Amino acid sequence: MGNLLIVGAGPVGTAAARAAIEDQAVDRVVGVVDPDPAARHELEVLTGAPGYASTADLPTGAAGDRAIVAFSSNAEKVAPAIDRLASAGYHAVTTCEGLAWPDRHIWKAMHAAARSNGRVIIVTGANPGFIMDKFPLLAATASRGVTSITVNRRVNSADRRLSLVEKTGRGLTPEEFAAGLSAGRLAKQGLVGSIKLLAHGLKWPSHDIKESIEPIIVDGLVTGLDHHVRLRSAGRTIELNLTLDWDLEDCYDEIHIEGDPPLHIRLDGGYHGDRGTTTQLVSALRHCTELEPAFYRPIDLPLRIG
Ligand SMILES: NC(=O)c1ccc[n+]([C@@H]2O[C@H](COP(=O)([O-])OP(=O)(O)OC[C@H]3O[C@@H](n4cnc5c(N)ncnc54)[C@H](OP(=O)(O)O)[C@@H]3O)[C@@H](O)[C@H]2O)c1
Repeated sequence: MGNLLIVGAGPVGTAAARAAIEDQAVDRVVGVVDPDPAARHELEVLTGAPGYASTADLPTGAAGDRAIVAFSSNAEKVAPAIDRLASAGYHAVTTCEGLAWPDRHIWKAMHAAARSNGRVIIVTGANPGFIMDKFPLLAATASRGVTSITVNRRVNSADRRLSLVEKTGRGLTPEEFAAGLSAGRLAKQGLVGSIKLLAHGLKWPSHDIKESIEPIIVDGLVTGLDHHVRLRSAGRTIELNLTLDWDLEDCYDEIHIEGDPPLHIRLDGGYHGDRGTTTQLVSALRHCTELEPAFYRPIDLPLRIG
């Protein structure tokens, strides 16, 4: 099976390491990379693996060795770490939102790193990675002449990890929210990437994209946010609407597709993003050794592998 390295010992890396061992997707965890010794301590104790402050310090990986890379949404920060991991002999699976639809120069660099080192690089997750892109795209392939896709997602942030709650701006004043938004500290990254993945999968040119993010304010303080992205392409539209709010009731995921036949899919309660991400990561770990060396965005993976 091969060994596993965790790069970023936050809630996502930690949950994925536990699940990968439990599901026997890897033999063992052989290293935990995180600049913060306190953050990596839990996983070091759990797995008995040594800790490293940076990917620059890692030993060379053997065939089949894989890394989960879960430390930032920013492709400019994560791509160099993945490049180093591939050079050191590791396949890489990442939750980095910015890599779901990276700029062309990063896309090329990731392909070059994968191919020149004979390694697989997979970008996955729940959102982006599944519920607002890959899943509606799969549904859209079951309808002819699609003219519009609308995806509505309502998430109770009280049920999610702290780092996501912080991105909703909970507890901020409207002024602090506006400042945090323009500094790029708030909101779920990756919605624009998801809409581009969907348009790309439908072979629609993905021009004219509009994004808006509004705070939800109760008694003068922010409790969450409404995030909308809309794409128009030759009279056809895709709309992604995400509400992330504290103690939100009536949570669900909903997909409406106008085509022949029309489709309406509703998941009552909604797809749990944190647990879903763990599932996507473990599944991607399994695929690393079955795919041709390349860089795979969420919709690039075939449905049946092997
Ligand atoms: N696509 C999806 O569906 C999806 C779902 C969930 C999460 N995500 C993304 O996955 C990432 C991880 O999520 P999380 O909640 O676990 O994040 P987190 O709580 O921020 O934890 C990340 C950890 O990585 C550490 N770190 C920072 N720079 C590092 C580096 N260069 N190398 C190794 N470790 C480093 C951080 O240390 P410091 O705290 O000292 O910086 C922190 O301990 C986030 O970017 C999140 O947005 C994506």
